[in-house]
Amino acid sequence: MSLECYYQIEKFFRSKTGITFQEKLALFFIKLSDLMNRLEFYDCYEFYHRLQNDEKIFLYLLRELVVSRSYFFREKGDFSLLKELIREDNITHPHILSMPCANGEEPYSIAIFLLEHGIEHFNIDAVDINPEAITKAREGVYGARELYYFPENLKRKYFIQIKDSYKIAPFLQKYISFYQANLFEYERKKKYDYIFCRNLFIYLDEAKKEEALTIFYSLLKSKGYLFVSFSDYLKTSYAFDKITVNNKIIYKKVDRK
Ligand SMILES: C[S@@+](CC[C@H](N)C(=O)[O-])C[C@H]1O[C@@H](n2cnc3c(N)ncnc32)[C@H](O)[C@@H]1O
Repeated sequence: MSLECYYQIEKFFRSKTGITFQEKLALFFIKLSDLMNRLEFYDCYEFYHRLQNDEKIFLYLLRELVVSRSYFFREKGDFSLLKELIREDNITHPHILSMPCANGEEPYSIAIFLLEHGIEHFNIDAVDINPEAITKAREGVYGARELYYFPENLKRKYFIQIKDSYKIAPFLQKYISFYQANLFEYERKKKYDYIFCRNLFIYLDEAKKEEALTIFYSLLKSKGYLFVSFSDYLKTSYAFDKITVNNKIIYKKVDRK
């Protein structure tokens, strides 16, 4: 095994996705080696070459290393806060970005929460790098694990039960557009009032956190807000005001002069 080649692949993966395995190199090497064996690559540099030029190979590696796991109503306090901010700021039609959205649990939860609180005009762009997660999000079929914290009394309103699974009611689809994209290559055409980027920063190194914040800065409208998770520690706050509400930190865009 060429250690140098393995290091180069880790560096390439980090520069593309932002996800660092610098402190888990052994795990990275094991998973990479397993994948190369399964795909019958016996020369690491040949794999590296294909990885750089063939999106399919990159997606195999992504699937090996990154788990798109989430659940409905995760850190639900954020949704209450969102609802309060929409009302306070008097935003009549909020544009919301949920990135990364994993299998759709987060954007569907936001939509359901807002509808339950009488906010009916909004749209959500939901983005994840993992194409399988986006396919699953569009299908919108979930099991008991993802719905563990979902209120029992709302299930019939927002889902159609099919045996042990629950399929998102079709009327919810109109609020959400799903896209497969890499945050670091995301087109910065649209502007959002609120961005949710929860449980991704935790995997990024400092340089990529800074880069992600620069991207979110340009995607936010003036005085827009960025929501991150409790676990997403951000040392730096690039051009954002850190605001604490109910023990929760959110980031408000500061307009540059
Ligand atoms: C743990 S899930 C978080 C989902 C949701 N936001 C939550 O808090 O439950 C992390 C997701 O980040 C996605 N991801 C990783 N790197 C990404 C990137 N560079 N651009 C977009 N999505 C990315 C993964 O595919 C995975 O679905």
